[in-house]
Amino acid sequence: MALLEILRFGNEILRQKSTEVTEFDEDLWTLLDDMAETMYDAGGVGLAAPQVGVLKRVVVIDVDDDHGLLELVNPVITAIKGKQHELEGCLSEPGKNGYVERPAKVRIKAQNRYGKRRVYVGTGLLARAFCHETDHLNGILFADKVDKWEEEKCD
Ligand code: NI
Repeated sequence: MALLEILRFGNEILRQKSTEVTEFDEDLWTLLDDMAETMYDAGGVGLAAPQVGVLKRVVVIDVDDDHGLLELVNPVITAIKGKQHELEGCLSEPGKNGYVERPAKVRIKAQNRYGKRRVYVGTGLLARAFCHETDHLNGILFADKVDKWEEEKCD
């Protein structure tokens, strides 16, 4: 396991589209392990592979719910319902948070580290994480969607 460097907003890699994973091998497992370690170390709830400079459709999420650590390979959102408007941030832009409109409920299909197909349904923070992280795989950043930035505080 190793901590990976998280790229910051402004890095062109974050604007590129990631490619599908076709090999479910040890390289993928190492990437997933390192991404999870990096996410936990940074205190985040989600991390997408482009944020560590790897343009592959790989995401890790842990919103501290019953799902535990989710490893999503080739994730695709297949259904959305409702709306929520909450504060969001990104490990590629620490300390900067803004309000983003997202679906209230999101259904996502993905493969696990062995290539097996899985379906998850998330609400609240998990629904937001599904959207935020899959956006990363398409070069889209939450800042593109913020309609109001959090006010600066001095405490
Ligand atoms: Ni992010």
